[in-house]
Amino acid sequence: MDGVVVGPEAASISIFDRGFLYGDSIYEVLRTYSGVPFELEAHLERLFGSGRRLGLTIPADRAQLAEETRKTHEASGNADSYLRLMVTRGAGRVGLDPALATAPRRIVIAIPVDEMRPGPAVYEDGVEVSLVGVRRNLRDAIDPQAKTGNYLNSVLALAEAKAAGAYEAIMLDHRDQITEGASSNVFLVAGGVLVTPPLEAGILMGVTRAVVLRLAKEAGIRVLELPLNAGAFAQAEEVFITSSIREIVPVVRVDGVAVGDGRPGPVVRALRAAFAGYVARVVAAGGK
Ligand code: PDD
Repeated sequence: MDGVVVGPEAASISIFDRGFLYGDSIYEVLRTYSGVPFELEAHLERLFGSGRRLGLTIPADRAQLAEETRKTHEASGNADSYLRLMVTRGAGRVGLDPALATAPRRIVIAIPVDEMRPGPAVYEDGVEVSLVGVRRNLRDAIDPQAKTGNYLNSVLALAEAKAAGAYEAIMLDHRDQITEGASSNVFLVAGGVLVTPPLEAGILMGVTRAVVLRLAKEAGIRVLELPLNAGAFAQAEEVFITSSIREIVPVVRVDGVAVGDGRPGPVVRALRAAFAGYVARVVAAGGK
C-alpha cells in the first residue's frame, strides 16, 4: 500500500475512501508468467489513461508503479501472481465532489494465479456465453475505456449470465451492437476472417485483445475491427473471449445454440498456441 509491503490482515483502507463510497477509483489486472509481469507497460499505459479520463492523479510515476508491482509479487512468495493495481481518489468528507479528497492511494494485491485461473476443461471443451439484457455503459456515461472501480455494469451482467447457466455475459449497446464481455473482449471468426468490435463500439481496450490482434496478423489471419450486431454470432464459425487471467477462451455455445460444430475450432486453437509461444518469448527475454 502506497509503496509499502504489508500482509493482507494489516492492509486496510478507510470507510471514507471514495473507492468504497462511490467506486471512485481505477484499476488494472495482470499476471506474471515465470515471475515476469506480462504486458506491464501496456497495463500501466491504460491505468494512466483511466486516471486521465477521471481526472484522478496517480501519486507515482510509471517506473515506481512497475517497481512496486514487481516488489509485491516477490514479497508474496507466489510462484506466479494475479496482480491487481488499484488507485483510489482517497478519503475525504462524504460528498460527491472529487475535490473533497486530496490524497489518492495506490494498492497492489498479489494472489496466487492458480486460484484465479479457470481449469483445463474451460480450454478443452469451451464455454457458453449469454447475450444479457444489461447494456454496456454508453461511452458518454462511464466510458468503457476507463477501467474504473465502478464495475456494477459488469457485475449485473455477469449475474444475469450465471443465472442463465452461462460462463460469461456478452453485453450489447443501446443499438443492439455487440460490445464485450463482463470482464473480457469478444472475437468471432466468419468466413475465415477474425472479427472483433472496434474501440468505438464502447469497449475496454483489452491488453489481451491487442496481443491477439497482433499475433493473428503475424500468423496471416485476416483481421477486421467491425461493428457487429447481435445476429453475428449465428453466422460465426468460431467465437472466443480474451482477458489477462483467462487468456483466450473458446466459446462453443451462445444462449444454448452451438457455435460451428460446438467444439473449439482451428483458429482459436492456433491463436492459443501462438499466445503460448509469445509468452515463452517474453519470459525468455525477461519481460523486455
Ligand atoms: N478484466 N473488458 C472488460 C470490461 C474487462 O474488465 C476486461 C478485463 C477485459 C479484458 O482486458 P484485458 O485483456 O486487458 O485483461 C475486457 C480484468 C481481467 C478484471 O477485471 O479482472
